[in-house]
Amino acid sequence: MLGDLVTANAVTVGMTTASVAPTERGTGVHVAGLVFRNPVVLAAGTAGFGQEVDDVLDLSALGGIATKAVSVAPRHGAPPLRVSEFAGGMINAIGLANPGLEAVRADCLPWLHRTHPGTRVIVNVVGNTVEEFERVVGGLNGLPGIDAFELNVSCPNVKAGGMEFGADPVALAALVGASRAVTTRPIFVKLSPTLGAGVVDAARVSVEHGATGLTLINTMPGLVIDATRRKPKIGFGSGGVSGPALLPLGLLATWRVSRALPGVPIIGLGGISTGVDAAQYLLAGASLVGVGTAALRDPRAPERIARELAAWAVREGVRDLTTVIGTLEWPA
Ligand SMILES: Cc1cc2nc3c(=O)[nH]c(=O)nc-3n(C[C@H](O)[C@H](O)[C@H](O)COP(=O)(O)O)c2cc1C
Repeated sequence: MLGDLVTANAVTVGMTTASVAPTERGTGVHVAGLVFRNPVVLAAGTAGFGQEVDDVLDLSALGGIATKAVSVAPRHGAPPLRVSEFAGGMINAIGLANPGLEAVRADCLPWLHRTHPGTRVIVNVVGNTVEEFERVVGGLNGLPGIDAFELNVSCPNVKAGGMEFGADPVALAALVGASRAVTTRPIFVKLSPTLGAGVVDAARVSVEHGATGLTLINTMPGLVIDATRRKPKIGFGSGGVSGPALLPLGLLATWRVSRALPGVPIIGLGGISTGVDAAQYLLAGASLVGVGTAALRDPRAPERIARELAAWAVREGVRDLTTVIGTLEWPA
């Protein structure tokens, strides 16, 4: 049903720096050589490895899922409270809790492939060192059902291996290059809103060292205080801000990178809760859109957003969503 709604709006984006080109209608959404059922993917960390949301959300109605971050060893994550809402969205410090490479390879990813073979799987990867990123990517490379990797070099909620990789061009080049050397799958590098205008440089370094595309953006570091207890609301102290407050930040990062690196696929996300929000990301230059916090609040939100995006296209007389990517008209 959802597939039918969006097939009239097929999007094709080539491998690496290839230009955006329309494809045959009715074949889905083509990005980085992969076919997505529609442009909506679940944002990393907000839907686990799919199994966690299987009874509340129809994964087979979405284009794809970016998994929870995978590290070499299991991670127990940050102390509770891990998530707290505020007026602009949510703050979280999960601390990249995950069962580790071996369990993910043996159980989580095979389950996802077996139960939702038509849903693209983007494995989110995290590590404390370049070698750890390389081990996770290399360790999962070739496993059936893994379509792409997403290198998380932008997590604000860990004591090591977080945002510093994305902010250091030398470390970023080494990390992307090492990951590229151990897989032929598309690699997306996920960058932080804290980079500001520097997001363009980080994106360029990533692509020059083998990234296929970029994921823009991760959460923004923030603090919410329980004024009665005079303590941070969440157990880690500071956390990552997500949800509606992020929309303008994600759009600007997407616009900046799409202008600087035309044709490089972008997964745009941050604050998407309606189809029109998703359309804004396409106009800013994204080929796919991610939904995180909105799905945590309402598991049916990603399907609704995909439907609303298709309805927006119909309303605007857009037959092919490819034609709107990056067509934002900047004031003279
Ligand atoms: C609870 C939670 C867990 C997250 N875990 C990850 C993660 O493991 N890896 C990652 O790259 N991003 C993670 N993120 C960031 C999201 O993938 C996304 O970039 C961010 O939340 C912005 O999108 P949104 O406003 O739609 O939530 C997490 C976000 C939340 C709210």
